[in-house]
Amino acid sequence: MTIVVTGATGPFGRHAVEALLGRGVPADQIVATGRNLDKAADLGVRVQQADYGDPEQLRAAFTGADKVLFVSGSEPGVRVPQHRNVIEAAKAAGVGLLAYTSIVNADTSDLILAGEHQQTEQLIKDSGVPYVFLRNSWYLENYDFRSAVEHGLFGAAGDGRISGAARADFAEAAAGALLADNGTNRAYELGGPGFTMAELAAQISQVSGREVTYTDLGPEKYAEFLVGVGLPEQGAAVLADADRGAAKGELEAGPADLEKLMGRPATPVSDVIRAALA
Ligand SMILES: NC(=O)c1ccc[n+]([C@@H]2O[C@H](COP(=O)([O-])OP(=O)(O)OC[C@H]3O[C@@H](n4cnc5c(N)ncnc54)[C@H](OP(=O)(O)O)[C@@H]3O)[C@@H](O)[C@H]2O)c1
Repeated sequence: MTIVVTGATGPFGRHAVEALLGRGVPADQIVATGRNLDKAADLGVRVQQADYGDPEQLRAAFTGADKVLFVSGSEPGVRVPQHRNVIEAAKAAGVGLLAYTSIVNADTSDLILAGEHQQTEQLIKDSGVPYVFLRNSWYLENYDFRSAVEHGLFGAAGDGRISGAARADFAEAAAGALLADNGTNRAYELGGPGFTMAELAAQISQVSGREVTYTDLGPEKYAEFLVGVGLPEQGAAVLADADRGAAKGELEAGPADLEKLMGRPATPVSDVIRAALA
């Protein structure tokens, strides 16, 4: 069996390769792909260049692959044509399973971030390649816990519950989905047990020993705040929009799918905070 992991030069793909190795997949049956291959050189598996903008490279990388973990691209706005290349290459190579990292609640989500994932899911369905959608909620690593300790926690998610989980947990679940025999053409809604922003602030307080409070700014002011701390306007708008959606539960999913695929409970939020503050 050969498993190709795209985006293996980034932290998610790296964790997924490590999880596959940890579950006993031989190193010579894993191919790690990306653009900047230096970042995957120490993984101990085969590495191969595969730029989502280069159909030839993708086809070469997928030839002989039984399964592909397709890690979504990181350049919003151009992801649909890039992802189309990946899907067409997977189809041409006769890949038996394409596991795509999507966004939680993709069926119904109205987040700006969801649009490209929804279009990608549709392209995958239309391609006829057997698929699994790994609909990930928020990475806990999205939060700047150090800054929260210094300045407080800000957002626009109101009292909405966010099923954040450690990025490594989502990646481990992806590895689990690649190896499980749960059938294809299905979606997993992946997240941790969840928290409100006020509860997250309380957890940061507990771990850090400093009092951290959550201030809800509402989407517009939160976008301005994010620009003020250095984010580009478009990125700030997307993040503020994600919080707008989170306030009405767009980032919420129970932990059942994540924990089933990992075969263990989600990493406690406090552990992720502790690691970030160490
Ligand atoms: N759910 C969430 O909260 C959340 C948060 C952030 C990101 N994400 C999504 O999850 C993905 C993985 O997360 P991450 O933290 O590992 O992201 P990351 O650090 O941005 O890494 C992205 C990975 O995708 C690869 N990639 C991006 N564009 C590519 C292209 N055009 N062709 C080939 N490879 C390409 C990168 O390869 P090179 O480095 O070699 O160029 C890298 O390996 C992201 O790409 C994004 O879609 C989700």
